[in-house]
Amino acid sequence: MTIRTRFEQASDKNQIYTVNERAFGQPDEADLVDRLRAAGRVVLSLVAEKEDKIVGHILFTAAEIVGDDHTHPAIALAPVAVAPEHQRKGLGGRLIEQGLAELTRGGYHRVIVLGHADYYPRFGFLRADQYGILCPFDVPPEVFMALALKPDRLENCAGTMRWAPEFGL
Ligand SMILES: CC(C)(COP(=O)(O)OP(=O)(O)OC[C@H]1O[C@@H](n2cnc3c(N)ncnc32)[C@H](O)[C@@H]1OP(=O)(O)O)[C@@H](O)C(=O)NCCC(=O)NCCS
Repeated sequence: MTIRTRFEQASDKNQIYTVNERAFGQPDEADLVDRLRAAGRVVLSLVAEKEDKIVGHILFTAAEIVGDDHTHPAIALAPVAVAPEHQRKGLGGRLIEQGLAELTRGGYHRVIVLGHADYYPRFGFLRADQYGILCPFDVPPEVFMALALKPDRLENCAGTMRWAPEFGL
């Protein structure tokens, strides 16, 4: 059965909650998605759908990199979730790649992710600290990653990542 990806629609809210809750095995990320949506922080939300059932979801929200002199806009990738029975079949990768392509078309410059160090580099993410982009709390440096959607868009934007306040970070 074909799985297609598309933009989130208003009627998807409950199924998006469920797929996040099931993927993470807890409601925290599902609640976070609801808070971010309610606060108007969503830049891009894609779902993967099999028949009429949502089996994957990815969210991108507005963030900032706060430097000494300038604040640089950035996009935060989080969360991404695939229903347990559909994991490790490339669906998460499809959502990430399509999301990044859509953001590139939309003229966005850079994406930041905090996540599995052996997963995101395959999509072009690199350690953010090499660009002087820092996480505001202690994490292993390899899990805090950045991607330029256009050449050089990670240059000259050193600073500290600031996620939307709904993340509670
Ligand atoms: C992470 C996730 C979105 C990936 O989606 P997916 O469709 O399963 O991933 P893909 O099929 O595109 O890629 C598979 C690769 O993902 C990586 N991966 C998947 N789950 C992983 C995990 N828990 N830890 C580390 N790497 C993981 C592996 O490298 C895997 O490759 P392998 O099968 O050769 O080992 C999905 O597994 C998921 O929803 N996990 C639970 C929620 C979560 O951890 N979200 C991400 C937070 S950063």
